[in-house]
Amino acid sequence: MKPNPQAAYARHLDDRQPGEGLLADALSGLSKSPKRLPSKYFYDARGSELFERICEQPEYYPTRTESAIMREYVGAIAAALGPQVRLVEYGSGSGLKTRLLLRHLESPVAYVPVEISRSALAESTGKLECEFPAIEMLPVCADFAQPIKLPRAARAPRQTVVYFPGSTLGNFGSDDALRLLREMRSEAGQGGGVLDGGVLIGIDLVKDPATLEAAYNDAAGVTAEFTLNLLVRMNHELGADFDLAGFRHRARWHPLAERIETHIVSRREQDVHIDGRAFRFAENEAMLVEYSCKYTLEGFARFAARAGLRVAEVWTDPHRQFSVQWLVCD
Ligand code: TRP
Repeated sequence: MKPNPQAAYARHLDDRQPGEGLLADALSGLSKSPKRLPSKYFYDARGSELFERICEQPEYYPTRTESAIMREYVGAIAAALGPQVRLVEYGSGSGLKTRLLLRHLESPVAYVPVEISRSALAESTGKLECEFPAIEMLPVCADFAQPIKLPRAARAPRQTVVYFPGSTLGNFGSDDALRLLREMRSEAGQGGGVLDGGVLIGIDLVKDPATLEAAYNDAAGVTAEFTLNLLVRMNHELGADFDLAGFRHRARWHPLAERIETHIVSRREQDVHIDGRAFRFAENEAMLVEYSCKYTLEGFARFAARAGLRVAEVWTDPHRQFSVQWLVCD
């Protein structure tokens, strides 16, 4: 039977608009000390576009390096994943990375992209269903950090593989990252396959601080525009009055925590109003917007083990900047 992608698409779009939580999350984050904003709100249409441009910046090595690893080893990766897979992807974005994998997998059964940006999800699903008419497309517009029930495939898969590229796991604090890995493990274990599946994950590695800091402070200023877009979004969607010239982007490597911390810093003392409430910023006050945790290979293997996942294979680039890892249920 020919799958009807349009029907599937309509059925699995979440009723709740992911942007709806912005007001509540902005008010609560700005009331905290230190202030913070949740990074999932980066990815509106403009944010997703700016992120695509970050990936093209010469200093931003992760995307390019991960793609090179995927291109080089896709045969071995497809062999490790096996035939008739139901492929679930968390934070599928433009879906570009997935195309290569879908081309090399042996008779994949279904593709379940989970993406918070409705525009990115609609566009990528549209393209992929044209290129892969035999694969059942089951897009889900949702925040994958929340527990979600994902659609089963019409045809029974041999196993479910959760694909989580882009080192996105690093954007979660360690408790949330662990919870997410455990959830992926349970999806891979009970995703309707005959066998237990696994998790194919992109993990950025600890390296020299100069390379790391340059990646998050590109000379063209695209990353700065990307983080400040969060303020633009609050101005548009919540009627906030952030003065864009009054804030700047800052990203620094913290060696003990092994992470890049991205902040939006107030250039001067000022008040910002949202929904009738005033928030005071001191000069140089920093508002946390994102962690990008990096791992050593040993450190990540230990971490994955706590989620019941065993590292079965690791593919890296010649400079060991980035890794693609195949984790199986233990
Ligand atoms: N989440 C990605 C990362 O940590 C994307 C990203 C690049 C990013 N630069 C950023 C996220 C700056 C927040 C702030 O690599």
